[in-house]
Amino acid sequence: MIVVEDVHHTYDVDRAHPVTALKGINLHIEEGEYVVIIGRNGSGKSTLAKHFNALLIPTSGDVSIKGMNTKDPQHLTTIRHSVGMVFQVPDNQIIATVVEEDVAFGPENMGLPLQELRARVDEALTVVDMLDHRTRPPHMLSAGQKQRVVIAGAIAMRPACLVLDEATAMLDPRGRRDVLDTMQQLHAQGVTIIAITHFMREAVEGTRVIVMDQGNIAMDGPPQRIFSQADELRQLGLDLPQVTQLAERIHRRTPAFPTPLLSVEECVEELCRLPQSAVVSS
Ligand SMILES: Nc1ncnc2c1ncn2[C@@H]1O[C@H](COP(=O)(O)OP(=O)(O)O)[C@@H](O)[C@H]1O
Ligand SMILES: [Mg+2]
Repeated sequence: MIVVEDVHHTYDVDRAHPVTALKGINLHIEEGEYVVIIGRNGSGKSTLAKHFNALLIPTSGDVSIKGMNTKDPQHLTTIRHSVGMVFQVPDNQIIATVVEEDVAFGPENMGLPLQELRARVDEALTVVDMLDHRTRPPHMLSAGQKQRVVIAGAIAMRPACLVLDEATAMLDPRGRRDVLDTMQQLHAQGVTIIAITHFMREAVEGTRVIVMDQGNIAMDGPPQRIFSQADELRQLGLDLPQVTQLAERIHRRTPAFPTPLLSVEECVEELCRLPQSAVVSS
């Protein structure tokens, strides 16, 4: 789906103070993966994400989407239709004054016939559970609802891949959960998901975690493996999810308690399984 080969990206190449944000990234993302990218501020996450739909072009190296090199201008439209982007602030991404018109904006520009357009808008609003709000003005919605409208606009274009750059950062816990549920649902439908987040508990939602550090990929693997390396993560300025920290602490006192645990549900289940004597002594 996405192939990144030895990509460097330098901002302000011609200025007095160029910044090299990516320093030789190599990465393959397969169709249907749910990749979560984490890493401290300034590590290059957003710069990398913008290479996935040709918002940025590598200073050197190559990015290809389904075999199409992002440097080739003739592929630009197809690439933009294949990879949807959702950013942090929903207000900056909403254009129309009515929800359904906003969702229709992208597919309308694809030149779809009206009937197909209507079907796609309805389908996208259903996926994000916002169909009932279709005729409302977006400014009347909560931040979480607005972000779901933005996601609906992206998925109405039927992208093979959706990239979300801190799309949950501005939302309250309820709005965040709704957006994460939408991402899971899209993933289940076969859409490739790439999510950038600074919430560690969201990093466990994916099938693969990539940790960035100073323009490089520092770690790459399934969440179970990444979150069993607490010391390495801390050196990269990251923490374990809270529930994983708790499980680690219980494990230190009661070695039979398994670690790493990535979800509250798993943790509760394992706690219930502990013999009563172990719980009391812990
Ligand atoms: N438009 C830009 N112009 C110049 N430097 C930038 C620009 N965007 C990002 N940078 C720099 O590139 C580095 C990586 O930034 P970014 O990709 O935004 O990291 P992250 O998303 O992980 O916080 C940082 O040093 C940042 O200051
Ligand atoms: Mg960023």
